[in-house]
Amino acid sequence: MKRRVLLIVTVFSFCSVLGQLSYSIPEEMAPGSIVGNVAKDLGLDVKRLESGKARVFTRDTAYIELNRERGVLLVKDTIDREMLCRKVTPCALHFQILLENPMEFYSATVEIMDVNDNPPVFTNNYMHFNISESAAVGSSFTVDTATDLDVGANALKSYFIKPSDTFSIKIKADEDNRNVELVLNTPLDREKVDHLALVLTAVDGGEPQMSGTMQIRVNILDFNDNAPVFSQPVYKASIKENSPLGTFVVKATATDADHGSNGEILYSITNVENDMRGLFVINRESGEVTLNGKIDYEKSKQHQINIRASDYGGLTGTCKLIVDVLDLNDNRPNIHIMSKSNAISEDANPNTVVSMINVEDEDSGENSRVQCFTDNNDYFTLKSKAANFYTLETDNELDRELSSAYNITVTCSDEGVPSLSSSVTLTLHISDVNDNAPVFDRSSYEAYIVENNSPGLSIFTVKATDADWNQNARVSYILEDSSVSGVPVSSYVSVSADSGVIHAVRSFDYEQIKDFQLCVKAQDGGSPPLSSNVTVKILVQDQNDNAPQVLYPVQTGGSLVAEMVPRSADVGYLVTKVVAVDVDSGQNAWLSYKLQKAADRALFEVGSQNGEIRTIRQVTDKDAVKQRLSVIVEDNGQPSRSATVIVNVAVADSFPEVLSEFTDFTHDKEYNDNLTFYLVLALAVVSFLFITCVVVIISVKIYRWRQSRILYHSNLPVIPYYPPRYSDTLGSGTLPHVYNYDTCRTTDSRKSDCKFGGAGSQNVLIMDPSATGTMQRIQSEKNILDEPDSPLEVCISYIADLIA
Ligand SMILES: *[C@@H]1O[C@H](CO)[C@@H](O)[C@H](O)[C@H]1NC(C)=O
Ligand SMILES: *[C@@H]1O[C@H](CO)[C@@H](O)[C@H](O)[C@H]1NC(C)=O
Repeated sequence: MKRRVLLIVTVFSFCSVLGQLSYSIPEEMAPGSIVGNVAKDLGLDVKRLESGKARVFTRDTAYIELNRERGVLLVKDTIDREMLCRKVTPCALHFQILLENPMEFYSATVEIMDVNDNPPVFTNNYMHFNISESAAVGSSFTVDTATDLDVGANALKSYFIKPSDTFSIKIKADEDNRNVELVLNTPLDREKVDHLALVLTAVDGGEPQMSGTMQIRVNILDFNDNAPVFSQPVYKASIKENSPLGTFVVKATATDADHGSNGEILYSITNVENDMRGLFVINRESGEVTLNGKIDYEKSKQHQINIRASDYGGLTGTCKLIVDVLDLNDNRPNIHIMSKSNAISEDANPNTVVSMINVEDEDSGENSRVQCFTDNNDYFTLKSKAANFYTLETDNELDRELSSAYNITVTCSDEGVPSLSSSVTLTLHISDVNDNAPVFDRSSYEAYIVENNSPGLSIFTVKATDADWNQNARVSYILEDSSVSGVPVSSYVSVSADSGVIHAVRSFDYEQIKDFQLCVKAQDGGSPPLSSNVTVKILVQDQNDNAPQVLYPVQTGGSLVAEMVPRSADVGYLVTKVVAVDVDSGQNAWLSYKLQKAADRALFEVGSQNGEIRTIRQVTDKDAVKQRLSVIVEDNGQPSRSATVIVNVAVADSFPEVLSEFTDFTHDKEYNDNLTFYLVLALAVVSFLFITCVVVIISVKIYRWRQSRILYHSNLPVIPYYPPRYSDTLGSGTLPHVYNYDTCRTTDSRKSDCKFGGAGSQNVLIMDPSATGTMQRIQSEKNILDEPDSPLEVCISYIADLIA
């Protein structure tokens, strides 16, 4: 403690009167410091003091002593005013100065003046407060006060606080009770500053000033004054559609500046549109949003969710979550047939529209880009008309006969990965157009009919098919007009329109007509109709309806013609030859000869093939002159037909012998004479008729040329005519009469069936094995009628008939 000695000498006016001394000294003066000059003030001589043994009398502690030599009062002991008087002012020491010799005393008062030797002192130099951050501005908090032992000006004067921005000091001055309060100047924010360290300083008014401090810690208590705040106002996430439940979407994070439960956050989803209720869930604590339902891009491409974060104090913050749904290729293209034709004509032009198709894909982007194509590229093509619109068109000529219906599959696929596709099948019927003519199953037919058929007999069936359909394929058969030998073919056959059966209209005779052709037309029922024709050749087959006819020997009633056999004839002598023909053909004309009756069987035989009658042994005398042989000529038909011829043979060396022997031949001789006469007569008649005929024919021929042609073509049976002509050839042959005849061909240029040896030595019938026909006519007057086609032939035939 610094101490300045302040000497104040107060001269009391009443001092002398009352002998009262009064001094004033500051406290804390060093011992020995002079308080006052008593001798002078009392007017006493130092000697007197000496002698009077002047001394200081006090009942209390003696702080003051008297120095007699110097006559002054000295500080005996350091005086502490605060000890001495505490707060009492003024603080004074009261004592007496006693003198003896004479006894006298003087009262003295020494006032102790305060010296600022005590600082303000806080009882606790540390203090702490808990103040809620919500405390209102102006709130006051009482703090401990400091005390200062000094008094007066040296006493506690004021307080100040540092830092002073938050709190200020307010001193409430009651009488003695001084209250010091901290007053809140600004709002507290725990989130900014959660505690304050203040220093409260108390100062006194002394000079030099003294101070005391106290540390004050203010803990700012949290108040739920902060709402949770999300790290982003808007979260964005994307998620693939069809993601499984529980797929993580996003984690929303909110922070709350508050402390403790005021800062604990719970998350929740607030806005829920009806259709997406429960689609997303949020973890209450972590803020993780996960998928909780089926997410479909096609229903919603984006979802907006509001997320709320609330602290336990009830404050909330929100953010927005935008979830973009990513498209997955989960939708097949949807094919829609806008229109289609069920049937199309086979002659429809290429590029005829068959169907219009629209295709949609609910996906987006690549996943919705669709391409369509068709599997039947040969006949149909799919054309894109506009985005997602296609037409199915024909691309080729159609042919119902090739395919009457098509299943056209249209497939559409999108471009997603993997691509999805769908397809639709259209059935298109091709309607018929009459574009196919009936076709006969053969290019020509040959049919056979056996002659002598009953009229109406069905001969044959022609068949034509038409590739078209229904009416266009309904085939009718029509007999085309033509003529056979000048007669309309319809008088020979008829054709059934429906069935194609060819019926005979009449009975055919092979000997008249061997074959003919007809033309059948097949016509369909289309409009216009199409047709085709076919040639049918009808071949008439022979029946054994003609018996063989014996040409030689001529059978003339009871004629007496005999063949001569000399008795000297060798074995194998050719007696004669039976000549027969059969107008049938083939087997039916294949003749065989055999002996039916003979007088002496052993003498003659007949060649079964050639009809030659020969001797088979030497003629003996026993053999009768007159031999009568019966030869049967049989054809080979089934059943066979036959003719019988009687051959008279005379076994004699000379003609008279014969006559004598043939007594019963007289009638025959007569007959022969008659015959000679008749022959002469006939010759004349023939000559006449011949000339007449020639005249008639020539004249008629002009008018009836055609008819004569028909006659000549018609193969009418001509009765064979064969007048025998005897010529004496006497060659090598043993037969005196050699028959010289030749065959006459039919009008056709048919090959010779058989040839008769004309000038040969033997009467040998040579059969041509390759021949199938039969000799039809014997022409005896070959030199007259070398032209076989001449009408004269007919005429002569007729004459021959007359003679016969
Ligand atoms: C078309 O499909 C139908 C049904 O599958 C089938 O009956 C018919 O035979 C098919 N037609 C063609 C020409 O393939
Ligand atoms: C028959 O068909 C041929 C060709 O196929 C044709 O030339 C002819 O004129 C047709 N005849 C008739 C009578 O229709």
